[in-house]
Amino acid sequence: MRCIGYIGPDVRKITSGNHPQLGEAGGIYQFLRDLHTECGPVAEFCEGTTRVVSAPTPIAFKPQVELCNKPAIQMEFLAQVFGSKSIRFINGEEGKQRRQKYDAFLSNVWLDEYFYVFLENATGIVEKWCSKRPGESFSVHTDLYHIACKSAGMTMFGDYFKNDQNVDGFMDLYWKFWPTIEINLTDGIPPEGSKERHEFDTVVKKVHDICNRLKKERGTTTGRRLVDAMLETGLDGTTISGDMLVYMLTGFHSTGLVLIWCLYFAAKHQDIQQRIFSEVDAVLGDEELKRDMLPHLKFLRQFVNETLRIRFVTPIAGREAEDDMDIYGFHMPQKTQLVQALSATMMDETLWPEPERFDPDRFRTKETGDRHQLSFCPFGFEGKRTCPGQNFFYMEATIILACLFRKFQVFPENDVDTGITYGFLTRPRGEVFVKLQKR
Ligand code: HEM
Repeated sequence: MRCIGYIGPDVRKITSGNHPQLGEAGGIYQFLRDLHTECGPVAEFCEGTTRVVSAPTPIAFKPQVELCNKPAIQMEFLAQVFGSKSIRFINGEEGKQRRQKYDAFLSNVWLDEYFYVFLENATGIVEKWCSKRPGESFSVHTDLYHIACKSAGMTMFGDYFKNDQNVDGFMDLYWKFWPTIEINLTDGIPPEGSKERHEFDTVVKKVHDICNRLKKERGTTTGRRLVDAMLETGLDGTTISGDMLVYMLTGFHSTGLVLIWCLYFAAKHQDIQQRIFSEVDAVLGDEELKRDMLPHLKFLRQFVNETLRIRFVTPIAGREAEDDMDIYGFHMPQKTQLVQALSATMMDETLWPEPERFDPDRFRTKETGDRHQLSFCPFGFEGKRTCPGQNFFYMEATIILACLFRKFQVFPENDVDTGITYGFLTRPRGEVFVKLQKR
């Protein structure tokens, strides 16, 4: 079926667009899934007062691959955190050039150096978990978010994040303002002058104070980092802090979440965990993990990919049509705001039979050959504006998981089915609790 559907109040009258419908549907993923069930592969809805088009199929993604400009949706509120000129929003030539400068720090040359940071941090968490009492049940959230935050901070912003108290302090602030950002998706913006708005602004200011401290420390530390390239742009202080936060927050939150989901699925599927053990033992033997071993951990990569697919941590990306374009024969005028429902694509049963079944073998080379390249898109599509942290993420996650599974077998706590919250990021509704057994 091909149709442009429209759900929600009349766009000319509304002030909050589909926000209430997002809440009623349970989150952005379900909202888009229901919208497309009703309207077919091309559908239109409202974000705030802005008309948005969603078309979550590889065929619809194809003409969008070269688009670089971010859409203006969610701008008003997020600009409070990142600044309206930060990389989160900046388009055109300036956006491309800034990304190019920054992304160099996530390239393979730098990953050679980051490898040792990831390994050191992974060794730290293994040592910590070695001291757990046999059969002790614990939530994996604190430690996995901690390691993700520490690794992102140390590699991109310097030794401030070597200190565990600084890592915890930064995360405490983040957990205070994150819920407000997410609630904004369904309930709109807390009004100016309200208590909620005041608390939010206070916390955001404290996070910016940390960024300012990090900038000042650069003069006294050795070793070049991403933050140095940011400082060299000569941009104003708010924009540099905004750019720091975009890389830091996107870098640590999604990575921490995927690690949590990985432990959840490993605990739940003991047969799959056994296959990971066999591979890790065969590749690492008795040696310390080395960089050249990582590509040989193929099944572990399949396991991570299946986790990324079935829990699509980042459910959507977005673009603005730079010129007039056609999607499925529908005309999209220049400046149309496009939502790319990555989640709906990765759960589409015509592309992924039995999409709710966790099966890392979907990513065996034999299987991937037959699939449309754009069916698997947890980091967005190829192009100059996709997630710059993919290789960073894969290296970090592989090191942490290889170190953990080399040492421990993970078992579920009784109530391992934690449920799912579909928000800005797809996360467990409760915390994931596990028990460990040393291997
Ligand atoms: C599981 C881990 C991750 C997932 C699923 C993920 C996913 C995504 C997605 C879907 C986007 C939007 C892409 C688009 O618009 O086409 C994005 C943007 C971004 N990601 Fe990631 N990401 C992850 C890890 C990371 C890491 C580790 C870093 C940094 C070290 C990072 C940095 C960024 C930045 C800076 C952007 C914004 C780019 C821009 O606006 O130009 N991400 N990410």
